[in-house]
Amino acid sequence: MTERRAQAEETHAPALHMIDIIRRKRDGARMTQAEIEFLIRGSARGIFPPEQIAAWLMAAMLRGLTRDETYALTVAMRDSGEKFHPARLGRIAVDKHSTGGVGDKTSFLVAPIVAACGLAVPMISGRALGHTGGTLDKLESIPGFRTALSLPEFDRVLESCGCSIISQTPNIVPADRVLYALRDRTATIESPGLICASILSKKLAAGLNALVLDVKTGSGAFMRRQEDAEYLAALLVATAEACGTRTVALLTDMGEPLGRMAGNWIELIEAMQLLRGERPEGSGQLRELSLTLAGWMIHLGGKADTPQDGLAKAESVLEDGTAERIFLRMVEAQGGDASVFQQMHTFHRPGARRIIEAWESGYVSRMDTTQLGWAVQRLGAGRVRASESIDPHAGIEFHAHRGDFVEKGQPLATLFATRPGLFPEPEDLVRNAIRLAPTQPKPVDLVSRVWTKTNAEARLRDGLR
Ligand code: URA
Repeated sequence: MTERRAQAEETHAPALHMIDIIRRKRDGARMTQAEIEFLIRGSARGIFPPEQIAAWLMAAMLRGLTRDETYALTVAMRDSGEKFHPARLGRIAVDKHSTGGVGDKTSFLVAPIVAACGLAVPMISGRALGHTGGTLDKLESIPGFRTALSLPEFDRVLESCGCSIISQTPNIVPADRVLYALRDRTATIESPGLICASILSKKLAAGLNALVLDVKTGSGAFMRRQEDAEYLAALLVATAEACGTRTVALLTDMGEPLGRMAGNWIELIEAMQLLRGERPEGSGQLRELSLTLAGWMIHLGGKADTPQDGLAKAESVLEDGTAERIFLRMVEAQGGDASVFQQMHTFHRPGARRIIEAWESGYVSRMDTTQLGWAVQRLGAGRVRASESIDPHAGIEFHAHRGDFVEKGQPLATLFATRPGLFPEPEDLVRNAIRLAPTQPKPVDLVSRVWTKTNAEARLRDGLR
């Protein structure tokens, strides 16, 4: 007898059956909160067979989820496992989440900057997904760095450093682990309601007071079309706010890689240069976006009256070296060898490198960033199978960005891999992804829109997606 049936007999509530729930969603009915709780509890506990969960996911993908269903799903998933309680740290807890991109290393800057301003940043991050890189894989290129901390260890690092970046523990949001693995194999990723519940359940289980979302749009984003990204941003903000967490979403450009480096260790080199107050050419957008995200976090965390004041505070702790010291302390607290940052360029030892030169003179008019992301992954920075190890030194350094003029023969990008045999496919991908043209492309705003509770509510009034 299922738990729900036993409960139903005691309380005289109607018994629920997974087959009825699938049929009702298939036929376009709205799920009740009780049905969603039943579905999520049974999925997290391994009661339902994968084919039933997958059938419901496909029905939800095709029929869409209402705002109420999305909210109920988010809460049920958040509550499916253990939670982190940052209140005992005595600091307001804030975090940021990016929907994924290429060269996006803002976490390494934002976490120590915001911690330096007196807030706690309990960051539970992910691994590479599709063509996008993963924060955990990048951090694990530091010798000894541990991302799989227990919650008491997470607590201790947060107490001593103010920030910590870890992987999801086996007990945090177990329902997402089950649903996500099935979605990945059944073409049910691209549903705004399912994405929203998946992202927010993990963030809200970390007990955050405030959250800043970086929703990417453009050629390297999962949601490439501006209107889809806007809908997702609005849904995320409205749902997180309904759960009691102050939230904003910034719609940001992923029409080119963020910064100069895309890979694992080489992304840490770029982040460390900025933490040291350097301003390397090609890293300007990375610096600007990191400070903007941090500014919003500092504002929502109550340490600045406006996001602009927050940005000024963020800039000051970046420039005076406080953020760098906190980052290095966090590396050591999580078992990493921080001394590698003293010789970070010589620590970077790829087995082979290849320079791709401009094949004609012209402006860099387009960068297909999904293809560039795949090139980075195929150089060895990502995995084909979950069990594979990755190459910490693989990746691409971009010498030109969208809008730059390059002369024929000028280096466009340098590829890094363990051996030259790995270059042909990524080299083709890079050559096909970059377009050179006689006219300069129109500039694109790095942050095109900010979604808050008010405009998110207005955007969502048109119902189902
Ligand atoms: N990231 C997540 O955690 N979940 C999704 O569904 C998509 C991106």
